[in-house]
Amino acid sequence: GSEKLAMEAAAPSPPVFLTQDELKKIAAYKAVEFVQSGMVLGLGTGSTAKHAVDRIAELLRHGKLTNIVGIPTSKKTHQQAVSLGIPLSDLDSHPVVDLAIDGADEVDPDLNLVKGRGGSLLREKMIESATKKFIVIVDETKLVSRVGATGAMPVEVVPFCWKFTQDRLQGMFGYAGCAAKLRRDAGGEPFVTDNKNYIVDLFFEKDIGDLKVASDAILRLAGVVEHGMFLDMATTVIVAGELGVTIKNK
Ligand code: 5RP
Repeated sequence: GSEKLAMEAAAPSPPVFLTQDELKKIAAYKAVEFVQSGMVLGLGTGSTAKHAVDRIAELLRHGKLTNIVGIPTSKKTHQQAVSLGIPLSDLDSHPVVDLAIDGADEVDPDLNLVKGRGGSLLREKMIESATKKFIVIVDETKLVSRVGATGAMPVEVVPFCWKFTQDRLQGMFGYAGCAAKLRRDAGGEPFVTDNKNYIVDLFFEKDIGDLKVASDAILRLAGVVEHGMFLDMATTVIVAGELGVTIKNK
């Protein structure tokens, strides 16, 4: 189901046009309304999730939330949370997460996601697979008709013979006009993930078909660690757009 909510206090009054970052913040603040004292919280990664982590810290500072344990989904979010004084733990100590809040690169009508264009997909998927409730926060530019529609589908691979894995991935999706490219940093060196792996980004010209079949095929390839398709994981998606906030529930 889907419910329309009026724009709230977090949204500035006129002028009507909000920046993309303001929309991200509105979605993030709305998600944090679902946080309760005593929760084990998955802390997402990226420019949208950053606003949620800031907001959680602010509520902790003001005593409006207490007894929170954060599980960060990346080294970057770990640093942010430490700097803000949020108490942290990990999945070894807290294997069950109450609520995770994170951004996404694409959201399809069934609430399947593409994540990992920021490079943190493995820890995100581990933590977001262990959560009871997973709220995804996006501005409306992230909504797509099908997964893989707007850009890279990231795949985390081991560095050993990455080119072999890249070529196998490209071949696997030949029917969808796939181009597989090793992600590189600004200096032209391979981008290295928090887990010391590489990322191969898949770009599709056509629909990849059944997502579960595609997901299983990628995961069966030796050399692949994880991919950025998050199927049937989001329980709620909060979308902030110029006309207000929409909450979509699975
Ligand atoms: C990082 C992610 C991010 O959630 C995704 O890239 C969205 O980022 P942003 O909120 O900055 O648009 O999956 O691995």
